[in-house]
Amino acid sequence: MNPTQEKLKVQFEQALVAAFGTDFARIDPILVPASNSKFGDYQANVALSLSKKLGKQPRLIASSIVEKLDVSEICEPPEIAGPGFINLKLKTAYLEAQLNGIQVDPRLGIPTAKTPQREIVDFSSPNIAKEMHVGHLRSTIIGDAIARVLEFQGHDVLRLNHVGDWGTQFGMLIAYLREVHPQALTTANALDIGDLVSFYRQAKQRFDTDEAFQETARQEVVRLQAGGEDTLHAWKLLCEQSRREFQVIYNLLDIKLIERGESFYNPLLPGVVEDLEKSGLLVENQGAKCVFLEGFTNREGEPLPLIVQKSDGGYNYATTDLASLRYRIQQDEAKRIIYVTDAGQANHFAQFFQVARKAGWVPEDVELVHVPFGLVLGEDGKKFKTRSGDTVRLRDLLDEAIARAHADLKARLQEEQRQETEEFINEVANVVGISAVKYADLSQNRTSNYVFSFDKMLDLKGNTAPYMLYAYARIQGISRKGDINFQELGNHAVVLEHETELALAKYLLQLDEVVNSVEQDLLPHRLCEYLYELSKKFNQFYDRDRGVRVLDAEEPQRTSRLIICDLTARTLKLGLSLLGIQVLERM
Ligand code: ARG
Repeated sequence: MNPTQEKLKVQFEQALVAAFGTDFARIDPILVPASNSKFGDYQANVALSLSKKLGKQPRLIASSIVEKLDVSEICEPPEIAGPGFINLKLKTAYLEAQLNGIQVDPRLGIPTAKTPQREIVDFSSPNIAKEMHVGHLRSTIIGDAIARVLEFQGHDVLRLNHVGDWGTQFGMLIAYLREVHPQALTTANALDIGDLVSFYRQAKQRFDTDEAFQETARQEVVRLQAGGEDTLHAWKLLCEQSRREFQVIYNLLDIKLIERGESFYNPLLPGVVEDLEKSGLLVENQGAKCVFLEGFTNREGEPLPLIVQKSDGGYNYATTDLASLRYRIQQDEAKRIIYVTDAGQANHFAQFFQVARKAGWVPEDVELVHVPFGLVLGEDGKKFKTRSGDTVRLRDLLDEAIARAHADLKARLQEEQRQETEEFINEVANVVGISAVKYADLSQNRTSNYVFSFDKMLDLKGNTAPYMLYAYARIQGISRKGDINFQELGNHAVVLEHETELALAKYLLQLDEVVNSVEQDLLPHRLCEYLYELSKKFNQFYDRDRGVRVLDAEEPQRTSRLIICDLTARTLKLGLSLLGIQVLERM
């Protein structure tokens, strides 16, 4: 609810008491944005909902409320419509004052969270010795946007990279490298990630077919877990190798994260199993230790166990997640823990959340949220792959986005007969390429699959990053053309006259609601939709035929419109920055 709605709500509550007595003090006025702007800005539906209770016609109830309602500071006189809706239209003077209010506020009128708290965003989280794939790209982009919104709202956010850096796969890989490429285990930088990935593949193949090798690999795991020096050293080198490669991607995407991989929780794993045992939840099943779950069954309809210790004594992904959950609650004192992974892991999260709750490890004031997202598909609607059918390397993908943005820009410059420096062209191509990839991902409802298309994401028209960046640069162009410093416009009174001006002004005032909703629902596409709609409204306003004149308008309209331009640009810049997207003054 925005401040305007809050003020209106208070007035309605008073009117309800005045009309029907103190029993009606806590009634919700059911205030919603008007479905059609022709009828105003808000609509209160309370009269309809009270009809039964009062045994009266809703229209009569509505008029009793309106009689006692004092909203004259905010609205034009309310109107009753249809079966008993109360329509409210905001006063122009009120909107003007609101705009002047946000103009002097660097946060553009968005209040910080009422109760700032520690929140953890667990995102990106690729696996060592494997390539980071498009699923990790989604997690990285979405997780970063969520973290940015929470940080902006004033929360104390811990951005955690839960990398897969532990487990049996390392025994396999180390055993294999000892045989075929021992230098890799003793010297830094002996391998690059591509080699590492193919060695991993070969090691796996060997593991699946060669029993003697399986035994050697197992011994390596035992040595690793026991802290055997040379194995540990080899493991560190492998992690270092992958880490460097991941960092290249994070730098390109401007992502900050704290690495706290699975290995970090290794010493805590026996404690998890012990405590589950003590709480009586642990059951032995064919040598494995597990907890039976409610609401999950196997194909035969039998209850499904969550294994926390395998029959060979090893721990798994779920054990680590249980240990990390406890650590995050007890040590980090997190109040909300957000996990950003593909929807395919939904069961894993639901299961270990259930076990943790049953064990009493999750206090009531702690919220656990799995933030799932859909698959990345190719334009053929199938899983995203290279032409040769391999998984796409993220680095190649980002490089291609930048290269295409570069080519598009060159073509446009030629068409417009513009001369620009190489430096300018590279900077613009970089920002446009990376923003396009991020925005294409964020603008989709994350729960659905999305089709990866360079052509679509780089299009200057439509709900794309280039369109938004262009709207921003266009506004900066106004300031260049008129030789105006937006920062020095002063707190001149805003005047709203034209229809497109009012529509834009009202929309500018909705930013706080949108950011609030993303903070709650963790759906960044809502912010994208808002920014897209805002850019469209701006383009209608700044249109010779349908909109208004700006630089060649008379005063006081001229300055007022420049303020509106500036507010639009600042809103775009702030909104995009919350999505991890940087703006360009010129493009
Ligand atoms: N490493 C996992 C993967 O690549 C993601 C980890 C997500 N975080 C977690 N706490 N389970 O699928």
